[in-house]
Amino acid sequence: MLIKSSEFKGAFGDWNRLPEENLPEIALVGRSNVGKSSLINKIVNRKNLAKSSSTPGKTRTINFYLLNNAFNLVDLPGYGYAKVSKAEQQKWGKTIENYLKNRKQLRGAIHLVDIRHEPGNHDVAMKEWLSHYEIPILLVATKADKISRGARQKQLQLISRKLHLNPDVRPLVFSAATGEGAGEIRDAIGEIIN
Ligand code: GTP
Ligand code: MG
Repeated sequence: MLIKSSEFKGAFGDWNRLPEENLPEIALVGRSNVGKSSLINKIVNRKNLAKSSSTPGKTRTINFYLLNNAFNLVDLPGYGYAKVSKAEQQKWGKTIENYLKNRKQLRGAIHLVDIRHEPGNHDVAMKEWLSHYEIPILLVATKADKISRGARQKQLQLISRKLHLNPDVRPLVFSAATGEGAGEIRDAIGEIIN
């Protein structure tokens, strides 16, 4: 799918104050700092549409990006950032959960994990949670530029095993730094939307 236009539509503090419009949505979920905002920028070919930061916990609201005037990419706060207070983590957790559970416009989720690390408990919980609510998942292994080509297969197997992926599901390898995998993600988004 070709991305012809992109615009920031707004940042929202809670799921029940989101836009009422009826466009389909795809949400980005994953640990804080895994690269959700960077993925959005790469997909739309703009450097700073979504704000990314080397400090985890950058995205603290539900951020809407309208693409091709046809659907929304939804950037959610990351989970698992230890430096955020327990109370705030719980609040974000509830916001994410309510959004995923209740949002009628939601068509699928892009679940990001860092290709260098074994998925953590939060990642496992998120995967099981999405499966339980029958939300289609596109699993993306990010920061592929940070490991050698030779190490990839082993890491992908580790991720598949830990997240109990079906044997026919293959994580998509992506790098926001090199753009590797961006075309495949655009195509997968197109399939989810259509
Ligand atoms: P939160 O908003 O805190 O949930 O984080 P996020 O998931 O939106 O992560 P973000 O896109 O802000 O990226 C976090 C850091 O990782 C930034 O310093 C990015 O430049 C870096 N980063 C993201 N993707 C990649 C990648 O594919 N390769 C490399 N080398 N760095 C990346
Ligand atoms: Mg972010």
